[in-house]
Amino acid sequence: MPNPVYSPDLAGIQVGETRISNVEGIDGRLSYRGVSIDELIKKPFVRVVWLVLFGAEPTVEQETSLQSFMALHSSLSAEELSLLRSVPERLHPMLVLQCMLPMIDPDTEHGIDGITDDAQRGLLLASKIPSLLAARHQLEKGKEPIKVNAHLPFHENFLMTFTGRAPTSSQIRMLDVTQILQMEHSFNASTFAGRVCASTLAPIQSSLVAAIATLSGELHGGADQAALEMAERVGTPSAAAKFVADCLADKVKIMGMGHREYKVVDPRAVILKPMAEALCSSGESKNLFDTLVAIEAACQSEFDKKGKQIWANVEFYKGAVFHQLGIPAHYFTSVFAMARVFGYIAHYLEFSANSKLIRPSARYVGV
Ligand code: ACO
Repeated sequence: MPNPVYSPDLAGIQVGETRISNVEGIDGRLSYRGVSIDELIKKPFVRVVWLVLFGAEPTVEQETSLQSFMALHSSLSAEELSLLRSVPERLHPMLVLQCMLPMIDPDTEHGIDGITDDAQRGLLLASKIPSLLAARHQLEKGKEPIKVNAHLPFHENFLMTFTGRAPTSSQIRMLDVTQILQMEHSFNASTFAGRVCASTLAPIQSSLVAAIATLSGELHGGADQAALEMAERVGTPSAAAKFVADCLADKVKIMGMGHREYKVVDPRAVILKPMAEALCSSGESKNLFDTLVAIEAACQSEFDKKGKQIWANVEFYKGAVFHQLGIPAHYFTSVFAMARVFGYIAHYLEFSANSKLIRPSARYVGV
C-alpha cells in the first residue's frame, strides 16, 4: 500500500469538487458560478442568492418568489421570541445563532415552486437570521424587538430592526455589497465543516450550525471583530508601526492580515477599502480608518522585509464599514454568518447530490 498523504492543515490538498465559486489565490480573483465579484456587487442581493444556490440567474418570477418567501419567513413567532429571551444574556451572538437555529421548525407550507425541500429549509433558516440578530440586539439594550416590515427588502429590514433607525439608501447599498462579497468562498474552514457534517447525512440545520460554529474562531470569521478591536486598541495611526513590530517580535498574529489561498491582496478587501474610506470621512471613524491604513502599511513593510506574501484579507476593512452602519463589533461575525449561510446552503445541496462520507485517517504516534 502507498504511504498515505500526511497534511495536518490540508493546505493545498484538494478534497472535493465544486461549481459554486472559484478562488484564484495567485491572481486575486473570486467568482461565484462563473461571475466575478466585480459584476456580482452590481446585482440585487436576492439575485446573487439565487445564482449561488441554483447555478443560474433567476427569472423575474423566481426572484419575486424568493423575495416573498424570505419576507414571509423573516419574522419570529411568539415561541421563537420566547426561546430567544431565554438564551443567557452574556452569550456571544455567534453562540446565540448556534442555540437558536436548531430550535426553528424549517418546514413550511408556503414554499417556492421547483426547489427542493432542503433548499427551502435552508432558505427559511437564512430568512430568520436577521430577525434573530436584530431582536437579540434590542433585548441586549433592554428594549423590545422591532417588528419586521414584510414590504421592505432584506437588508433594509435588517438595518431598521437592528439599529431602530431607517437606513439611508447608501447604507443599504453598502450592506448589500458587503454581504454579496462575503456570501461564498469555496472550501474555507466553515464551509468544509458544513460539508463534513452533510457527509454523515445529517439534516441541513445541523450542517448550517456546524459551519456557523466553525466560522466563529478568530483565525476565520471571528477575525472581523478581532481586527476592529485591534485597531481601536492601537488608537492612532502614529502608534501603528510600533504595534506591528511588537506583534511580529512576539509572534502575535495581526488580525485581518493573511490568507491561506490569497498570495496578493484579497479581492474583497480591494472593494471594501474604498467603501470604508467613503463611510469613515470624519472624526472618530476617520481616525479608525487611518489607523487601519497605517497598520496595513506597517505590515506590508515588515512582511516585505521577511519576504512573506501576507496581505489584507476581507476582514481588515469590513469592520470599519459595519461600524459605520451601526453594527457593534461583537455582532460582526454573526452578520457575516447572515450572508455566508447562503453559501453553506449551496454547498449542502451540491454535496448531497453526490454524497460520500468524509473520514480522513490519523497518523497514530503511540501512547
Ligand atoms: N500576522 C502575523 N503573521 C502572520 C499572519 C498575520 N496575520 N498571517 C500569517 N503570518 C505568518 C505566520 O506567523 C507564519 O510565520 P512563520 O512561518 O514564521 O511561522 C506564516 O506567516 C504562515 O502563517 P500560517 O498561519 O501558518 O499560514 P496559514 O496559511 O495557515 O494562515 C491565516 C492563514 C490563518 C488566515 C493567517 O494568515 C492568520 O492567522 N491571519 C490572522 C487571522 C485572520 O485574519 N483570519 C481571517 C482570514 S479570512 C477568513 O477566514 C474569512
